[in-house]
Amino acid sequence: MSSSRLRPIWWDGDAVMILDQRLLPHKNKVLRCTTVDEVIRAIKTMAIRGAPAVGIAGAMAAALGARRIAAADVRTFVRKFSRLCERIRAARPTGNNLRWAVDAVFAVVVENPGVDVPGLQHLIREKSQAILEEDIRTNEAIGRYGAEVIPKGARILTYCNAGALATGDYGTALGVIRAAFAADPSLHVTCCETRPFLQGSRLTAYELMTEKIPCALITDNAAGSLMRRKEIDVVIVGADRIAANGDTANKIGTYTLAVLAQANGVPFYVAAPRSTIDPLLPNGSGIPIEERDPKEVTHFYGRLVAPRGMKATNPAFDVTPNRYITGIITEVGIIRKPFMRGIRRALEAPPPA
Ligand code: MRU
Repeated sequence: MSSSRLRPIWWDGDAVMILDQRLLPHKNKVLRCTTVDEVIRAIKTMAIRGAPAVGIAGAMAAALGARRIAAADVRTFVRKFSRLCERIRAARPTGNNLRWAVDAVFAVVVENPGVDVPGLQHLIREKSQAILEEDIRTNEAIGRYGAEVIPKGARILTYCNAGALATGDYGTALGVIRAAFAADPSLHVTCCETRPFLQGSRLTAYELMTEKIPCALITDNAAGSLMRRKEIDVVIVGADRIAANGDTANKIGTYTLAVLAQANGVPFYVAAPRSTIDPLLPNGSGIPIEERDPKEVTHFYGRLVAPRGMKATNPAFDVTPNRYITGIITEVGIIRKPFMRGIRRALEAPPPA
């Protein structure tokens, strides 16, 4: 299992350790979380962010909370644990992985009816670690499949941060870039700064430079011009939730990139684990879009830049309709149009070895 040296989250004894991504790349601070509320706060304030990493944090928060539940019997434990899981699922609304991971941890209780409370607490802890390890294997498989669509010497554009910091390690979109770079050091990556939280200029640039992958940063609004000037060969992004028809939610601004890519004949790929797919949603119109603090827009690094009292709207994600997507790269292969059938088949496929 490879390591990018940029692990966002891990267990240290009975504490969940979280690399505070609000301070990267200029400050490396680790939060030691021993309560559910500390992990939920880290998710809400984006000390940890990225759909798969938030899912892993949710699973670990459930394990932390389970350990502290005082219950004389399993029935009481399950009732309290169910309420706790509901609270964790609500930490951030758009990413599917949080709900997926907490459901997977809760399933441990259902799947082990005869086990006592201490036994369940132990199994839940183990499951949260297994979710982390599975995520890393999944990203490596996504990287292998995705590298196949990256032409030699490609000039790649990516958006937000879908790297090791947004997952258990290795990354989804950045996992594809890592795998492609391992085979072809002549490729180049352009990353968009990704206003307002700057995941691109702070986190993706940090990962690419740490791994010495040739790269450059642009403002988000420069992407269209680079595509029109034929300076981009392929766009690859991550995802927060994918509907059954392939409509994809990702960081606000992704939809704009997808439309520009199509208008300029540039292939547009989404890289995501199957845990990001929400098969219950027929299309993207039902994906809940998180609305974040307007201060993220009116202020820059805490300093007011807009006129005092200026109103701002700050949707954190948008939905790219499936018609703009060339393919969805998962751990069991690349899904192409028609997405409905491809996604159904991908969800039925056995996990990668
Ligand atoms: O608000 P964020 O930073 O959590 O948004 C993250 C993204 O949009 C990522 O592209 C997505 O979660 C995929 S991460 C592998």
